[in-house]
Amino acid sequence: MNSKITIRAPSTTANLGPGFDVFGLALDAFYDEITLTKIKKGISIITTDNVPTKLEDNTAGLVVKNMKKKFKIKEGIEIEIKKGIPAGFGMGSSAASAAGAAVAFDKLFGLGLDGNSLVEFAGYGEKASAGSVHYDNVAASVLGGFVIVRTDPLDVFRIEPPKDLRLCVAVPKLKVPKKKTKVSRGVIPKKIKLEDSTRNLSNASTIVVGFLTKDSKLIGKSIKDIIVEPARKHMIPGFVKVKENALKAGALGVTISGAGPSVIAFTERSSDQKKICRAMEKGFASAKIECKTIICKTGKGASNK
Ligand code: HSE
Repeated sequence: MNSKITIRAPSTTANLGPGFDVFGLALDAFYDEITLTKIKKGISIITTDNVPTKLEDNTAGLVVKNMKKKFKIKEGIEIEIKKGIPAGFGMGSSAASAAGAAVAFDKLFGLGLDGNSLVEFAGYGEKASAGSVHYDNVAASVLGGFVIVRTDPLDVFRIEPPKDLRLCVAVPKLKVPKKKTKVSRGVIPKKIKLEDSTRNLSNASTIVVGFLTKDSKLIGKSIKDIIVEPARKHMIPGFVKVKENALKAGALGVTISGAGPSVIAFTERSSDQKKICRAMEKGFASAKIECKTIICKTGKGASNK
């Protein structure tokens, strides 16, 4: 068995509008690289990126610590982290490091864990950044494609996305608060109206049908969230304009990517993605904010480099 392994874990978008904490989609946009090496003893973290190096505060560190204990691994482990995913922008950055660490650990020690278990171990790492466990991003980063997370008990379902689905992501140059996910989870209403829940559920269910029938139009048209997006949009200056512009430029559906502040537009291959990106840039510019736009396809799950 090898004494070292490197795993590339993809960026992800969570929620897809009405699927708060339930839906995730892997994006072929950015990747984190996690290398685990067997050492004599202990756990150490090496990185030149701006992430915490204290084990308990680091998503990958928490995952490795927990798995080492659970599987009674005697050897030590060095964790090398190379961040490719911008942290704090709603692209599943912390989740990718956690997912990469869980998949790497499984392979390094030949555990042969199934998808559900890998997602459960990776979810543990999310605690470090979100303050609570949620599995949508880690599930998409571990398994790739579109995922549905049922939490109680935990079950993760993966559906292969339509080949013609294209995403335009606008990442604004904003200063994001520390523990951003925790902060943006704090603004969501604790109680909601039954009719709002019904509307979100009907759109969420239709998104699932869209993925099952490989219908990008149906997916895009159903990216509508009347519960979480309205509660969070004030945290993203220019959001209303970004969304309006992208829809006018031909996007099928637009929403906040995960907990934001990135905004994601769902489009199909035949849409004019460059025009949609320019429209999103103009939307952010209306609030005097620069942004970087990315056009991407859906991604595969975490795998060997
Ligand atoms: N579902 C989570 C949220 C994703 O929206 O808070 C965080 O990346």
